[in-house]
Formats: sequence, structure tokens, C-alpha cells
Amino acid sequence: MEITKVVIPVAGWGTRSLPATKNIPKEMLPIYKKPTVQYVVEEAQSSGLTDVVFINNQNKKIIEDHFDYNLALESVLERAGKTEILKEVREVAEMVNIISVRQKVQLGLGHAVLCAKEVVKNDNFAVMVGDDLMFGSEPGIKQLIDVAKAENMPVIGVMEVPRSKVNRYGIIAGEEYAPGLFKVRNMVEKPPVSEAPSNLAVIGRYVLTPEIFEHLETTAAGVGGEIQLTDALQKLAKNDRLLAVKIRGRRFDAGDWVDYLTANIYFALHDESLRDDLVLKLQELLSCR
Ligand code: UTP
Repeated sequence: MEITKVVIPVAGWGTRSLPATKNIPKEMLPIYKKPTVQYVVEEAQSSGLTDVVFINNQNKKIIEDHFDYNLALESVLERAGKTEILKEVREVAEMVNIISVRQKVQLGLGHAVLCAKEVVKNDNFAVMVGDDLMFGSEPGIKQLIDVAKAENMPVIGVMEVPRSKVNRYGIIAGEEYAPGLFKVRNMVEKPPVSEAPSNLAVIGRYVLTPEIFEHLETTAAGVGGEIQLTDALQKLAKNDRLLAVKIRGRRFDAGDWVDYLTANIYFALHDESLRDDLVLKLQELLSCR
């Protein structure tokens, strides 16, 4: 099973992040020195994925532009002898191939994935949510690709969440057949805390086979009036065609303000040139609460 394509849906309205996202895509809000979506594309690239299919809308074209050359800027940097940042700026344009597909109406994550059907064709493919960041010793999506290749099955990424927060996620019920590997039996979107079958939450990483498109085409709007990817995955689970991997690493949901701010601090703390000053400022802030 060769996997080179990754679908990254970025067409949502980002209402949780307003007013910041009135005119700036949520996926372009910077986390430390880079836009959020660049971390997602870097994870894809380091997992061997070469073709990025952005599912986009007409107001968010700057996402594609970020992964293209900016010749005017590059010549300014060249003339100014700013070679290091010039190299960095150019490298972003050379990371992956970009294919862009319009989602004309934002009908949900499942519908966004369905928009990729004509581009994905009969290939197996990855899906990475454009505002979900994952960091660890091994790229998150690579952990799924390895299992999908070994088992020749669709695989979804899950992480444990506190019981009190299960109502914010898709939650799975499954059998752990090897450490951190599950056969998924059931999935529920945003269940009440008392009804959740586990605390294993579906997070924004998937490796899918084209069979998902048939299921998406017959999926009616679910929770929140949206076509939910979870509902189509549930059909795979019912046919014994779905595995889950407990992803090892740290996750930030950039659409959640606490996670977004924490991610900024996390990266800044990893920059030696900022770390000491930042720690002092944080201590100062904490002491004058
Ligand atoms: P979210 O539900 O987090 O994004 O979807 P949203 O709808 O933009 O945000 P809120 O809830 O209103 O704040 C996860 C990802 O899927 C994309 C979003 O752009 C985001 O990156 N998405 C969502 C689509 O591409 N199309 C959709 O119809 C919905």
C-alpha cells in the first residue's frame, strides 16, 4: 500500500477563533514563527507524503500562497543579503506539491473529505486536520501509515482525553489487539459524558482507502447539521474495516485558545535564544495574578 497523497481540509469558518479569524484563516494564525498549517505540512512531509490536497474556500487562498514562491519578497531578501531567512522562505515553497480543491459550502469535515474524491481517485490517502498539531519523536501520521501498510486497512488516530471532556470529541469503542492498536467496533460523535464508550478520542489524523467515499456519499447530515466523517467511519467499523492507533506524542488543537496559546509557549521555550527571558516573564506574570 503506497501512500503519497494527504488531504488537508482548511475550508472551515473558524468561528471558535473569532474575531481573529474574521479575515485571517485559522490555519494561518502563527504559532511561534510559523503559520499553524505549516506544522501540519511539515509532519506530512517528514512522513513521506508528497502531494497535499488542500480543501479550501474562496476566502482562504493565502494558505496555498504560503506554500508557493513569493518572488518579490525573495528578491528583496536577496538584495539585502538576508540569505538565511531567504533560504527558509524558499524551502516552504519546495516542501510538497500543492493541489487545491474548493469546498463551495462548508458542510462539515466529512463533506470536505468527499470533495477530494476526484483527485484521490483509487489511491489510499491520508487526512490531516489543518489546525490539529502533533509533536513527538515520530510524526503522528507516520505512526498510522506504518499500521495501514502492515494491515492493509483504514486506520484512525486516537488519544486518551480526560473523561470530563469526551463530549467534545468522536469517541471509539474497540478491542486492543496489540499495545496501542485497536479494532474499532463503534464510534460516537460528542457523546454525553455518561454515555461515552471509552475515553479514546478521535483526533485529526486518518489513513483511508477510497471505500470511504461510498460511505460519505450516503451519509446524511448528523450532529450540528454537518456531514460528519465519524458517521462514515462508523460504517467501516460496523464492517470490521477500521483500526485505531493510540498516537504517541503531544497534541495541540489550534482552534482552542488554551491549546493555541500553550503551543506558542511550547515552541518558544524550545528556542534557546528566547527561553530564559520567556521563563522570567512567565514567572513574573504568574506571581502577579
Ligand atoms: P473545525 O470544526 O475545527 O473547524 O474543523 P471550523 O469549522 O473551521 O471551526 P469552528 O468550530 O467554527 O471554530 C477542523 C478542520 O476542518 C476544516 C477546518 O478548516 C479545520 O481545519 N473544515 C471544517 C473544512 O474544511 N470544511 C468544513 O466544512 C468544516
